[in-house]
Amino acid sequence: MNVAILGTGYVGLTTGACLAYLGHQVTCVDPDANKIGALQRGEVPFHEPHLEDLLVAARPNLKFTMDYSEAIPDSQVVFIAVGTPPGVGGAPDLRYLQAAAEGVGERLGPHFTVIVNKSTVPIGSGNWVGALVRDAAERRGRGKDCFAVASNPEFLREGSALLDSLYPDRVVIGADDPRTAEVLYTLYRPILDQTFQPPAFLPRPDRVGGVPLISTDLASAELIKYAANAFLALKISYINEIGQLAEKVGADISQVARGIGLDARIGTRFLQAGIGWGGSCFGKDTAALVSTASEYGLDMSIVKAARDVNRRQRERVVEKLLGELKILKGRTIGLLGLAFKPHTDDLREAPALDVARHLLERGARVKVHDPVAMNRFKKEHAGMDVVMASDVHEVARDTDAVVLITEWPQYLDLDWESLASVMRTPILLDTRHAFDRGRITRAGLRYITLAG
Ligand code: UDX
Repeated sequence: MNVAILGTGYVGLTTGACLAYLGHQVTCVDPDANKIGALQRGEVPFHEPHLEDLLVAARPNLKFTMDYSEAIPDSQVVFIAVGTPPGVGGAPDLRYLQAAAEGVGERLGPHFTVIVNKSTVPIGSGNWVGALVRDAAERRGRGKDCFAVASNPEFLREGSALLDSLYPDRVVIGADDPRTAEVLYTLYRPILDQTFQPPAFLPRPDRVGGVPLISTDLASAELIKYAANAFLALKISYINEIGQLAEKVGADISQVARGIGLDARIGTRFLQAGIGWGGSCFGKDTAALVSTASEYGLDMSIVKAARDVNRRQRERVVEKLLGELKILKGRTIGLLGLAFKPHTDDLREAPALDVARHLLERGARVKVHDPVAMNRFKKEHAGMDVVMASDVHEVARDTDAVVLITEWPQYLDLDWESLASVMRTPILLDTRHAFDRGRITRAGLRYITLAG
């Protein structure tokens, strides 16, 4: 099938690469000439494992352009995957989505076209997107039955986006027109039946048989996306709240997490206690869920509580350091990790940024390091008055404490004896429970976490 993808960010480019790899003819559109130029040269504008390899493998089925007119008229499916960054009060900024919807409506081809909303949008705005497309199409004399809007939420995690796209736990399609579900079923058939040849660098996981398809209405599909992300965020805040009690009663939160997670009804995943979530989704989606609910007079107190716990975790890092050092003014603190999680260079709502700001506000000197995200940090946060360390030893040298913020594999097997010898005071605050307490203590450091 011919597919157009509007937006070449984490979701758009990943979706385009996967669909092209499956054999569909995909045209990716972005108004940013630099991005399109880089993609045409085979350069990927962000760090995502194996995305560059998949774009090479799918290149014969891929085109990149700035021009909607090159992509829309021939496409049977148009994915809108433009950014919906948080606006005032948490509600998403829908300007880019509105421009994309109107741009599509003005260029629809002669055949029935499915317009898929991949951008995270307030629940119920699928109909709003449809109205924008319809108005634009009617201005061009096109009938209102020449297209239909669908919701097809993405569940991909940065750092494992291709795995989550080619081998998903489920595919969700929200549509109020029967033709739409048929078109999308055809599009996703190779993924649903898992009949495609796996890329050598992304072998099919053992667990994957056929992939369940949830075909439902627009609002349900949109709510599935928000409800899923909010529950994952809630699960993380739950174990972090239990972690605060674990510290008081002398319990080991990692053991508690394992002990509850082995209950099949709870599950062991997303119970990793620590500094909590960052990234472009959990914060934005939980805020949007609360914002949408408030329009209906609903309080969403559980989701709000999960957000509050998560925000507090970052503040607790500073409280922990104050507890150890008694004063932060003039002290030097080294941060290991900037990206919001390993295997990405994404800094959106990254915990390290808030921790650095809180420390700078208290007059501390801050040194930072990240194996992958340093260039993006320099570009996006040049104004932050921190020392950019070239390696872990430089982070540790003459510091009063080192804080592990992002559990990159590169940090998990360090020579802590050597690092302790160059620190002013050998204190390690491990905000991800990534290290063994005994190993760090035997290396001569004081080992603390956010849960004891
Ligand atoms: C998330 C959802 O998982 C994905 O389904 C959705 O499509 C987009 O948002 P992502 O934000 O990329 O994906 O990463 P994820 O692996 O979910 O981690 C989110 C944050 O939670 C990270 O900051 C991570 O460090 C944190 N986290 C995750 C925890 O603190 N504890 C955990 O147990 C798991």
